[in-house]
Amino acid sequence: DKAGFKHFMAKEIAEQPTVLADALRGYLNGNTIFLPDTLPDFAKVDRLVMVACGTAYYACLTAKYWFEQIARLPVEVDIASEFRYREPPISKGTVAIFVSQSGETADTLAALRYCKGKAETILSVVNVDQSSIARESDVALPIHAGVEVGVASTKAFTCQLNTLLLLALNAANQRGTISDTDLASTLSNLRALPGLFNAALDRDPVMADAATQIAEARDVLFLGRGLMYPLALEGALKLKEISYIHAEAYASGELKHGPIALIDKTVPVVVMAPRDALFEKTVSNMQEVMARGGRVCLITDAAGAEAAGDDVWRTVVLPEVDPILTPLLYALPAQLLAYHAAVAKGTDVDQPRNLAKSVTVE
Ligand code: M6R
Repeated sequence: DKAGFKHFMAKEIAEQPTVLADALRGYLNGNTIFLPDTLPDFAKVDRLVMVACGTAYYACLTAKYWFEQIARLPVEVDIASEFRYREPPISKGTVAIFVSQSGETADTLAALRYCKGKAETILSVVNVDQSSIARESDVALPIHAGVEVGVASTKAFTCQLNTLLLLALNAANQRGTISDTDLASTLSNLRALPGLFNAALDRDPVMADAATQIAEARDVLFLGRGLMYPLALEGALKLKEISYIHAEAYASGELKHGPIALIDKTVPVVVMAPRDALFEKTVSNMQEVMARGGRVCLITDAAGAEAAGDDVWRTVVLPEVDPILTPLLYALPAQLLAYHAAVAKGTDVDQPRNLAKSVTVE
């Protein structure tokens, strides 16, 4: 049931404030995070290995920043189809985490089976509780996103991020790398996030306008730094999946090492950058793009919009948010951009060509 929306994807994007609030209730009571007792004590864990495909892989790349920065835990992230055949050494003391919406992705399941008997704990983060990946794990954490119909993952991505962030905060708490005050303030910011999601969804007309113009491009570049880099990758994947526009993402600092050669007036560049300590560097990246005629669509906050100046082609202003939570909030405009570009191009948004919701063969 599309609940009055034209596409499942539109519905699934729009319901994220409610879905996130529900997902949070599944794990939080006040400032206490409830996770299964069967989880390992992260104070005794040496390292994490995170494995997934597609959007779930980008959720892992995001979580790497959280686990490393907040919990000071080293993390290796890999694509399941690479991991399974590379047969990497897995030491005891390693927790292996598999992230999958469907819980049936063939490569992710094969990677999980490879880690059995090698890793300390096999942990999965899934949307489908009774899936193969959930059943074959020592511990399965549900993301509580509800059924996702659109082939392009939207609410499952934000709910994967939410679950992984809670896990990282819990690990940080056990490892003594976060103070009680910082933990309490992050959790209270997280509880307020569904409200900010609503504000981000209110930017829909601006995103639709930018997307309609971007839909005419043959190539689109996405740039982001730090936590925004995996999100740039996710934004590019979303756009190519449903609008069939060639989109690529780079870490902003890589621009001069190659992709800048692509820039001319036909290549829109989507920059995802809240105003943070490195924002000045992003401004100089944008100037390099604009000097070559590139059109910059900047997704930022009010402070970022002001610092970026007037030459930016389109600026989308999101509410200010706790820096740790930016990937969840900035996912929404990335989804809206892809959605409206696909609608402008008249593609089959919910069932894009050549793609299946769940990839159960390699
Ligand atoms: O069910 P999974 O999360 O294991 O699926 C992984 C990918 O196939 C999936 O995320 C795919 O990339 C989506 N279509 C992205 O929107």
